[in-house]
Amino acid sequence: MNKLKVLIIGSGGREHAVGWKVKQSPKAGELFFAPGNGGTVELGTNVDIKATDIPALIDFVKREKIDLTLALPDDPLALGIVDEFRREGLKIWGPTKAAARLESSKAHAKDFMQRHNLPTAKFKTFTDFNEAKNYVENHPLPIVVKASGLALGKGVVICETKDEAIFALENALVKKVFGEAGATVVVEEFLTGPEISAHAFSDGVSYSLFPPAQDHKRVGENDTGPNTGGMGTVAPVPFVSRDLIKKIEDEVVASALSGMKKDGNIFEGILFPGLMLTADGPKILEFNARFGDPETQSYMRLLETDLIDIIEACLEKKLSQIEIKWKKGFACNIVLASAGYPGEYEKGKKISGIKEAGENPNVVVFHAGTKIDNNNLVTNGGRVLGVSAVGNTLEEALATAYEAVDKVHFEGKQYRRDIGKKALRL
Ligand code: AMP
Ligand code: GLY
Repeated sequence: MNKLKVLIIGSGGREHAVGWKVKQSPKAGELFFAPGNGGTVELGTNVDIKATDIPALIDFVKREKIDLTLALPDDPLALGIVDEFRREGLKIWGPTKAAARLESSKAHAKDFMQRHNLPTAKFKTFTDFNEAKNYVENHPLPIVVKASGLALGKGVVICETKDEAIFALENALVKKVFGEAGATVVVEEFLTGPEISAHAFSDGVSYSLFPPAQDHKRVGENDTGPNTGGMGTVAPVPFVSRDLIKKIEDEVVASALSGMKKDGNIFEGILFPGLMLTADGPKILEFNARFGDPETQSYMRLLETDLIDIIEACLEKKLSQIEIKWKKGFACNIVLASAGYPGEYEKGKKISGIKEAGENPNVVVFHAGTKIDNNNLVTNGGRVLGVSAVGNTLEEALATAYEAVDKVHFEGKQYRRDIGKKALRL
């Protein structure tokens, strides 16, 4: 069998987890990560090219004769990396720029959902500050103001008062604190209920739903403090019934993918809707056009089927011909972050204990913001590591992960001690 040279674009825990899974495939040859992190060097070679430097990535892929590229982060997808690679005749997996607009433009996503009758919060889109101000002045509270573009998870403000809403609108539309990403805003109705993440592989013809996952976005325990990229995940979510999964599959995933087809904008890759389970049923908070981070760190622990087989089937539009198996039991991933994250934080703190943590066969520690500096592993980002574990029950997986968390040390290590608690309580 010809082994494939694979390039994974990105540098987070998600990229380490996908690399870890790809490496287990008998089809996997040499692995490269651009730019990768201090953990991905154990799986392959880190290449010092930014995830958004598409011309340099194309040069590298041609020079190294890479067989398959996986573009995992949102930015290169929004920039059209898939279109540009394909124009050069290079094999890449992910959505086109037009399809990735489901994530990169919330205004576009809301218009799409409205046109195709997908369940989502009532909304209005604005580019003019005075029109937006007038609207929120006559709208019940709370109200949600969202920058339309990619804003590193900081573009959504839940406003309890009119002044807060006007301030959020002013920041985005007048002061332009999000740049172009905030030049259009979506103002929407406030919804309540538990939040979950749905993921599906799509080859544009058929799809395959993952088990549901739950992220924990706030930095503090009991969902307090500012939003982060995600502080921990569990999968599957025990309180999500089969009936609810079916409803999500039909009303959200299948409807969205068929809406994309009707629009002539076929979606290939991972469709990841963020959902709120309201009293009126599941509602779509946002679409992502990629694997979630840190959802993927839990998912890769549960996925049984060879990931390269799935991706090849997607690229050949034969997804329906392959059976995707998920392991029984549960997985979780606890994020260890730098002190101060998601605000300012220091880098370069020495990390120890990863080997000890990984001695339990049910534990895998995924790297995110780490790098090797003079032969030492040091912190290099806000989210530093993800300690993942599997177990027959969610309680077991969590207990195993937290035991491993205690073995890992770096100055300022912060993490939530309540990952999975909400999922168990409901
Ligand atoms: P988003 O990036 O659109 O998923 O929003 C980020 C977070 O803001 C979500 O995970 C929710 O916790 C919250 N959020 C977004 N939209 C709403 C809404 N309409 N009602 C209540 N909370 C929301
Ligand atoms: N975990 C949320 C995200 O990847 O957007």
